[in-house]
Amino acid sequence: MEKILGFVDANKDRFLAELKDLLSIPSVSSQPDHIPDMQRCAEWIASHMKSLALENIQILPTGGHPVVYADWLHADGKPTILLYGHYDVQPEDPVELWTTPPFEATVRGENLYARGSSDDKGQVFIHLKAVEAIMKESGRLPVNIKMLIEGEEEVGSENLDRFVAEHKELLKSDLVVISDSGMYAKGVPSICYSLRGLSYMEVEVNGPNRDLHSGSFGGSVHNPIQALCEMIASLHDKNGKVTVKGFYDSVRPLTKAERDAFKKLPHSDARYAKEVGVKQLYGEKGFTTLERLWARPTLECNGIWGGYYGEGAKTVLPAKAFAKISMRIVPDQSSAKIAKLFQAHFKKIAPKSVQVKVRFLHGGEAAITPIDSAGVRAAVSALEKGFGKKPLYQREGGSIPIVVQFKKILGLDTVLLGFGLPDENAHSPDEFLNLNNFYGGIKTCVHFYHELPQFWQGRSKKAKGKK
Ligand code: BES
Ligand code: ZN
Repeated sequence: MEKILGFVDANKDRFLAELKDLLSIPSVSSQPDHIPDMQRCAEWIASHMKSLALENIQILPTGGHPVVYADWLHADGKPTILLYGHYDVQPEDPVELWTTPPFEATVRGENLYARGSSDDKGQVFIHLKAVEAIMKESGRLPVNIKMLIEGEEEVGSENLDRFVAEHKELLKSDLVVISDSGMYAKGVPSICYSLRGLSYMEVEVNGPNRDLHSGSFGGSVHNPIQALCEMIASLHDKNGKVTVKGFYDSVRPLTKAERDAFKKLPHSDARYAKEVGVKQLYGEKGFTTLERLWARPTLECNGIWGGYYGEGAKTVLPAKAFAKISMRIVPDQSSAKIAKLFQAHFKKIAPKSVQVKVRFLHGGEAAITPIDSAGVRAAVSALEKGFGKKPLYQREGGSIPIVVQFKKILGLDTVLLGFGLPDENAHSPDEFLNLNNFYGGIKTCVHFYHELPQFWQGRSKKAKGKK
């Protein structure tokens, strides 16, 4: 172990240089212009895997961007980890707000700034380097590993369900490990045991049959932008509750024990408000900030457009207005059902003066993972060794749609072993990966791979029976 950890320390600079190279590829999954970059990024990862002595390396097609697969399966009698991550990233815009270019990874202080540095290329790379260090120093891994790195997580993993269902044999494993979430705070490692799901909608409000002169027609025709704003404003009541009929029907209530556990976590509303730059926080009445973020469903308008927004003034009463509206969902809501409820509600509240269209873009279910499994116990022990502190248990507000599908299709539980930070600017300008978390993450993974077999061996009869 000393030797392996020593290898990590001795190769820090090279690891960083390699990660910078990976981060220079603009693998933005949502934009068709970047299709060649997606392929290039998949190839970069595949060729890097080759240099680590991983085997059976393949770039496999899906209905969308390809996945990268590799394995190492020579640890006889030891558990098999399915390591999932994603090489796609969110768009970089607004690009002018980046301090240094999003695809030229730059170190400032103890952080590495680049799109994808934390979400999720940097975290995928943490595992690759852990594998490298172990292989270089001991010639073999203490566990079996299958890696599945996809290119469509940021756009809802829509083609991955089918891929997983069609490759059950290839992906057959004992547990899933995902590093695509965060630690509770800097220096405070954590195990995440729940993610919210999502239902993403786009709405279109149609008014007159063409753009109209706002002087000649204004006052006689309902402006679609105004109608849309009125409708959006009505989606929350004065208590911050979502007004979509039936929205809360299937929400699993928080238990007293969980509420108490959240209250024990180090959190300050004042600090949180200051960190995000608002004078006052907002949310559903009757719930704390952590409860609102982790265990309550929400509705956000992600974007709104219509009419004229170029330079100077144009007096126009536009024909159309649009908005993107997404809902984060929690157990036991269903993404499809929430989408239907939203659609019915939005159509119902539309005034007769306009016509609305509602489209479902994508969705995924909320996940709760076991906290007493052998995988989680091994992760707790590894985090303690990697970061010198016992991890906290936390939930997250973000979504990783495939987690629930891994359980449904492959019967596998997931361990969420995140190395990001809450203020890392994911999906925003100046995204960064904290370098202590990068190197600490590599060491944690080295420990995790070594500890898992022991915890796995000792897992309860009940858990053994399930598999
Ligand atoms: N890494 C995030 C998920 C995440 C965010 C986990 C915050 C924990 C905390 C992931 O890449 C992501 O952003 N997912 C999308 C999924 C969506 C497009 C279906 C999300 O949450 O918006
Ligand atoms: Zn991610």
